[in-house]
Amino acid sequence: MAEILGIGVSHYPPFSGTDENMADVFRNRLRDPGLPKEKLDPAAWPEELRTEFADDEGLASAKIHRESMVEGFRKCMAAIRDFNPDFCIIWGDDQYENFKESIIPPFCVLAYDDMTVKPWAQAQDSSDMTGKPNYWNEGNDYSIDIKFAKQPAKELVSFLLQRDFDVSYAYEPLNHPGIAHAFLNAILYLDFDREGFSFPIIPMPINCYGERVISYRGFISSLNDMDRELDPPSPSPARCFDLGTLVAKFCSESPYRVALIASSSWSHAFLCDKTHRMYPDVPFDRKMYKALQEGDYERWRNTTLDEITDSANQEMLNWMPLAGAMNHLGRKPQWTDFVETYLFNSSKVAAIF
Ligand SMILES: [Fe+2]
Repeated sequence: MAEILGIGVSHYPPFSGTDENMADVFRNRLRDPGLPKEKLDPAAWPEELRTEFADDEGLASAKIHRESMVEGFRKCMAAIRDFNPDFCIIWGDDQYENFKESIIPPFCVLAYDDMTVKPWAQAQDSSDMTGKPNYWNEGNDYSIDIKFAKQPAKELVSFLLQRDFDVSYAYEPLNHPGIAHAFLNAILYLDFDREGFSFPIIPMPINCYGERVISYRGFISSLNDMDRELDPPSPSPARCFDLGTLVAKFCSESPYRVALIASSSWSHAFLCDKTHRMYPDVPFDRKMYKALQEGDYERWRNTTLDEITDSANQEMLNWMPLAGAMNHLGRKPQWTDFVETYLFNSSKVAAIF
C-alpha cells in the first residue's frame, strides 16, 4: 500500500567545506567593487550580521551554524531510514550544471541507470568546491553508488503526461557528470555520518533560476554586473505547487513507499538585490516558515514570482511541490527547524511531514 513521507533539507554548498570557509560568500561580497563603500562599515549592517561576524569573521558562528544543520540532517535521515522508502523523489534546482544553452526544461524527471559518483573529483565548480578541502577530508577517489528508480520514474512521467502536466525526462546526463549539486549534496548531507544512502532516487530538476539561469549561470555575480540580458522566467510557484499535488496523487495511487524530498535553502544573499546581496531576506522566510508550520498552503500556492525574486527565493520553488503534496495529503509538518543566519548566505529550513 502507498505510504508517503515528506522531507525538506538544504543543499548549501559551503556546508561541504570547512568552517574556516563558511563565510566566504559574504567575505567575497565585501571585496566586491560594486558594494557601496558605506556598506563596508559593520555599523551599517543588521545587528544579527554584526553578531555572527564578530571579531573572528564568523568562525565561531560557522561551528554553531553547522551543528544546527547537522542536527536537522540527522533527524531527517533517521526519519527516512525508519520509513524505509522504495525510492525518494527529490526536487532540486539545476544551476547551469546539467542543463545549459542546449536546453532548459522547466521540469524534468531523471530516469537514469544506477551510477557511481565521485563527489570531489567531478564537476566541483558547480558547487564552488574547486580546490577547497571538504569537511570529511575525503579524497578525489571517494565514490558513492547512487541507485535510480528508473521504472517508477517512467511511471511517474506517464502519469503526469496523461494528466496534461507536460514534463521532460532524461535517461542519461547531458552536460554534467553524475547529478547536479542540489541532488548530490542532499544525499551527502543527509548521510552526514557516512552510514550509506542506499535508497533509489528520482531527481526532478526544476528551473528555479529562470531569468538568471543562463545569463548569470545561476550563480554569484558582482553588483557592478547587473546589466546582462535576462532569460525567460522560471515556472510559477503555483505551477510548482500543482506539480507536487499530482506527484502526491501518483504516489497515493501507486503500491510504493515514497519519500518526497525538497532540496534547497530559502532566501539567498547573493540574489538579494535589496540587501546589496550581503544577506538574505530573513523576514520573508520567517513568514513563509510560519505558514508552513501552520499548514497554510494557500499562502504558499499564492506566492507570486515577483515575491520569489524580490526575496531572493528562487530556490524556494523546490519546496513548492512539497507544499503542494502535503496540502493534497492534508498533512502538517511533524517537526521543523529554521536555522537563521545573516552571514552564511541563506536561511536553512529542515522539515519532516
Ligand atoms: Fe541550489
